[in-house]
Amino acid sequence: MIHAAYQDFIEDELKKLEAYDALRPHGHVYEFHKHVRRVARSMKMLALATDLGEELAETLYWAALAHDAGKRLLPVGIWDVGNKPDNETKRMRRQHTQLGVKIVDDAFGTDCHEPFLDLLRDLMANHHEAMDGSGWLKKKGSDLSLEARMLCICDAFDGYSVWRPHYGQRDISPAGVLHRMRVEKAGHFDDALLGVFSKLKLEKA
Ligand SMILES: [Fe+2]
Ligand SMILES: [Fe+2]
Repeated sequence: MIHAAYQDFIEDELKKLEAYDALRPHGHVYEFHKHVRRVARSMKMLALATDLGEELAETLYWAALAHDAGKRLLPVGIWDVGNKPDNETKRMRRQHTQLGVKIVDDAFGTDCHEPFLDLLRDLMANHHEAMDGSGWLKKKGSDLSLEARMLCICDAFDGYSVWRPHYGQRDISPAGVLHRMRVEKAGHFDDALLGVFSKLKLEKA
């Protein structure tokens, strides 16, 4: 079990993210507080399937719940723009990773490096990276922790599974999304982890 103070912090962040979602236009489809809960469940499943053990799986569940906390610090109007976002909108959206780290630093201090807080910072900062260095910060797979590589998969899978206007006719079934991740996004994800993850999602589908 993670420390009660960290649980309180994450539950508080979830409430803030839910309140932020409530400010978005009526009928938007991609609710962040629901996304992070789905991603956290996937993260736990993937941790158990890769034999990381109950305790770490539970820790990763809690940490993944907070991965997009930084979104709430951005103007609420940038998320629901209909068609493909312009470059300025994309630039702003991308700040949510570092803003998440700022939330942790502001709450606990930049000098506090408790393992769970460093895990939070790692997952917040690096969940939009790719193994081939094509992610937001251009980090390579060898620069990414196992936990971050896991979250990149869980996060992308959920993002691709919730239809949004610019997806058009894209196949958003689990099989369709996994195909996209393996083929169209080849090189982005840790192959071994994606293999385990695919089995889990296809068994469930
Ligand atoms: Fe994110
Ligand atoms: Fe996310």
